[in-house]
Amino acid sequence: MADDALVIFTPSGKRGRFAHGTPILTAARQLGVDLDSVCGGRGICSKCQVSPGVGEFPKHGVTVSPEALSAWNSVEQRYKDKRGMLDGRRLGCQAQVMGDVVVDVPPESQLHRQVVRKAASARVVEMDPATRLYFVEVAEPDMHEPSGDLERLANALREQWEIPRVEAGPTILRKLQPVLRKGKFQITVALYRDHTGISRILDVWPGLYEGALCGIAFDLGSTTIAAHLSDLRDGSVIASGGIMNPQIRFGEDLMSRVSYSMMNPGGDIEMTKAVREAINTLSLNVAEEAGIDPLAIMETVIVCNPVMHHLFMGIDPVELGQAPFALATSSSLSLPASEVDLTAINPEARLYILPCIAGHVGADAAAVALSEAPQLSEDLVLIVDVGTNAEILLGNKTRVLACSSPTGPAFEGAQISSGQRAAPGAIEHLEIDPETKEPRFKVIGCDIWSNEDGFAEATASTGVTGICGSGIIEAVAEMRMAGLVDPAGLIGGPEQTGTPRSRAAGRTHEYLVYDGSAQNGPVITVTQGDIRAIQLAKAALYAGARLLMDEFGTETVDRVVLAGAFGAHISPKHAMVLGMIPDCPLENVTSAGNAAGTGARLALCNVAARAGVEKQVGQIHKVETAIEPKFQQHFVNASAIPNAVEGFPHLLKVVHLPDVSHNTAGSESGTRRRRKR
Ligand code: FES
Repeated sequence: MADDALVIFTPSGKRGRFAHGTPILTAARQLGVDLDSVCGGRGICSKCQVSPGVGEFPKHGVTVSPEALSAWNSVEQRYKDKRGMLDGRRLGCQAQVMGDVVVDVPPESQLHRQVVRKAASARVVEMDPATRLYFVEVAEPDMHEPSGDLERLANALREQWEIPRVEAGPTILRKLQPVLRKGKFQITVALYRDHTGISRILDVWPGLYEGALCGIAFDLGSTTIAAHLSDLRDGSVIASGGIMNPQIRFGEDLMSRVSYSMMNPGGDIEMTKAVREAINTLSLNVAEEAGIDPLAIMETVIVCNPVMHHLFMGIDPVELGQAPFALATSSSLSLPASEVDLTAINPEARLYILPCIAGHVGADAAAVALSEAPQLSEDLVLIVDVGTNAEILLGNKTRVLACSSPTGPAFEGAQISSGQRAAPGAIEHLEIDPETKEPRFKVIGCDIWSNEDGFAEATASTGVTGICGSGIIEAVAEMRMAGLVDPAGLIGGPEQTGTPRSRAAGRTHEYLVYDGSAQNGPVITVTQGDIRAIQLAKAALYAGARLLMDEFGTETVDRVVLAGAFGAHISPKHAMVLGMIPDCPLENVTSAGNAAGTGARLALCNVAARAGVEKQVGQIHKVETAIEPKFQQHFVNASAIPNAVEGFPHLLKVVHLPDVSHNTAGSESGTRRRRKR
């Protein structure tokens, strides 16, 4: 009888021959099979669980006997009694090869398990975080061979885990001695090892640590800050939260914050302090929601635009306010989170900030590129991350271009008369009957249309409170389709539109969406000012996209991806009616949800993604909107609603509105529309 045996691992299909008595964990390591282990084969962490098969495996050409693995041992029994284990499972570090065997590695035992994103594009995220846990047995001190506890811990990591060199800060040095003694020189180490070669101890616990190990991906926007608290072991998002960016009180958009810094000595320091405090508060909020100790948060990743980047890092953004828009650094940053006052989390936690693409195109655009991977696309894709500042990417396998466009906060419901953030009670969908001009709407938190039975009861607790970003986009587009506004964006009066809902408001008109005054509720209208704000925002967005198309040398794109914190909620039809995006078959317009946030999560969960985005950013060609004269020209042309009609005349059911405007002559599309008729 041969004294070795064939071991086949599934699902990887990796196989090899091993001497009888070889632990399955050892065989897996030698073959490069993805089998987890925190305790290094000591039978205490249970991460190495496998499911051996018995019987015929014609596909692999083997027959597996029940004796193919060594007998169930006392270590496995002890673990099963104490913690429970599924029937048929074995501990890979205990079960030894005794005959040909097929061993399945279940997903939860895979070190680099794959997590399928719940977005339309269903990207698979491979778990390979920078921070992992390692259980080690450290040699006890010996007077005859004097060495420090840290040096003996470093030796143990080298010998037991092949980690060549580690460093540790004062927090760890203060903890290490009591932890080692409490754990009888058996401890668990949280070790950070990133793609740059840093190996740093972030925390230590006596014995085997089985508590939480988390990281937060932050999407630091000009208006809102979003946080996703993720489990660093399996990539799952265990809590998400958001908070308004407190810098709003210094200026709503980026340039007004840069001006605040220029005009007020020390203004940048105030804004830095405000945003760091907000991030600390948000960290505590998500930790509380997840029910974890904030000290279990070992890593943070931040994506943001360049001005937010500089203000967060404590760098005066003054250079970003004027050409040539020089960044202090465009490289990615990896540093202790405490250096930027992120003190609510583990004191040794690390911070990674994605690289910026250029002076106006930041780490948030890099994160969108990481998430959506336009450089892998066969067809020409336009990716628009809608926010206070829109990040726009256009490209395919041949090249990728990027720009950013100052849309202002209108798309986020700010600067809109009845605007509000997306919260229960906010109108998020709206339709207007083109015949009667009567609206109906849905609010966040209720699935019933406002003209359906049960709406009043269903919204009794939230009320109808205002219009959020996606709601205002639909409202303006529906008003256009119903003939309540003309191509120039002017709201018609009651005589022109045939509805008393179009009513006078000073020297202009407004459209009444909802009157809750009888119940002491709000009166929700869309005013001429609202339409103007949306026109400016959408023209900036469209002009940015057009500029990239010019640069690419194309008149059309194959598909459009809408992204952004509320990108998932924007209706492609309405976005196209408004002329926010270039014409494209409607079915080729998709939502990617919060792509920047997803990119941040990818970087949090996978160190290779960090190296990847750093390389990718170096290959993206940046187009500067601020100094490009054509941007202005496209902007003017794009202010009409829509800015092109050829691609979707079916969407404009009623467009024949008495001309209440006086200035469509300068509008390319206005001219085109008249020619068409
Ligand atoms: S490796 Fe920890 S129990 Fe097997």
